[in-house]
Amino acid sequence: MKIETLRVNGKRLRESLERMAEIGATPGGGVQRLTLTDEDRRARELFVSWLREIDCTVAVDRMGNIFGRRAGRDDGLPPVMSGSHIDSQPKGGRFDGILGVMGALEVLRTLHENRVRTERPVVVVNWTNEEGSRFSPAMVGSGVWAGALELDWAYARTDAAGKRLGDELARIGYLGEAPCRAFPVHSYHEYHIEQGPVLERERKTIGVPRGIVSLLWGDVHLTGEGNHAGTTPMNARHDALVAAAEMILALNGLPGRAGGDMVATVGEIRNRPNSRNIIPDGVDFTVDMRAWEGERLQAAWDRFCAEAGEIATRQGCAARLEKTWFVDRTPFDEVLVQRVLAAAADLGYSYMPWVSGAGHDAAYVSRLCPTAMIFVPSIGGRSHVEVETTPWDDCEAGCNVLLRCMLQSAMEP
Ligand code: GLV
Ligand code: MN
Ligand code: MN
Repeated sequence: MKIETLRVNGKRLRESLERMAEIGATPGGGVQRLTLTDEDRRARELFVSWLREIDCTVAVDRMGNIFGRRAGRDDGLPPVMSGSHIDSQPKGGRFDGILGVMGALEVLRTLHENRVRTERPVVVVNWTNEEGSRFSPAMVGSGVWAGALELDWAYARTDAAGKRLGDELARIGYLGEAPCRAFPVHSYHEYHIEQGPVLERERKTIGVPRGIVSLLWGDVHLTGEGNHAGTTPMNARHDALVAAAEMILALNGLPGRAGGDMVATVGEIRNRPNSRNIIPDGVDFTVDMRAWEGERLQAAWDRFCAEAGEIATRQGCAARLEKTWFVDRTPFDEVLVQRVLAAAADLGYSYMPWVSGAGHDAAYVSRLCPTAMIFVPSIGGRSHVEVETTPWDDCEAGCNVLLRCMLQSAMEP
């Protein structure tokens, strides 16, 4: 069989995605498969059973990252790797992350059924806690693997109920034996939905990001003074929620004032005591900021801190701001990016270069080995929501690009 004529099985890819979408299915048509929950465990077990069906060797590391390995002709060579994440957002979509895991699995299934002997081994990976919505920050499994985050620090992350990441990993049976440490990898391709509106708008099937924007996460803790909502005059209040509201508006206006590609979001907020007739005495909220230039992002965060300080003083509240996570921009490997562009062209798909505004495990992995990504359109640009959709033909097209790229790399001596 000539490598150039090899294609993935789009129907099988679709069936695998649909089967996965049953695990944690939500009434609104999405999935809720938060990291290290029973839904995550069930999806992992299914993934591992599918890996074993095609004779892959399965290894689970101390962070619960799962590696399915298919032997190469020269099995000592560094493998070609691809994957993404099984975990989802609360009320998330059926494609974010899982497409990259099922896509890489479909590549291995295609190699298996066609008895293709690659020069190098090929590895499919599921990274633990990419989303960062249950345990902050995001991309923790790949971050520890890449040596950017400490294992014990990762274990100590807690969810809203106070449960530790390390304990939950053990509870679902995925605290593996293998050390969570980068091994030599020839190249890493991550296949993912775009999660934005551009490919659909431009009528392109394949997006080829030249990199991932810089990401900055922060937490804001506000303390005011609780009091009676009926008897406390308006000029005698220290209302933590009003201070938070002003800060949220200041943050929302910051990208406009900074110009360029910056975006800023407050996605999570806790108000205390959260009673209709009590002036709030405490508010915590999260900050998510992104832009290509990490330096501009850091400067914008500093400016937000200064503005938040002024707001807190004016409202008679105390504010504590903490930058909790920063990942500088990730330019992808030029050779691999060109390879993705060429593969899309060869296969007859329309394509365009792009940048990823979403975070991906590829950001941390790229610190260790040449890395690139492949994007397919998100209908209406909707993602991290239950209606997240990508046409099945596009899922198949992106997977064919992945197959072509992985094969080229895997045949390199
Ligand atoms: C990951 O899903 C992100 O927040 O970009
Ligand atoms: Mn994702
Ligand atoms: Mn996501």
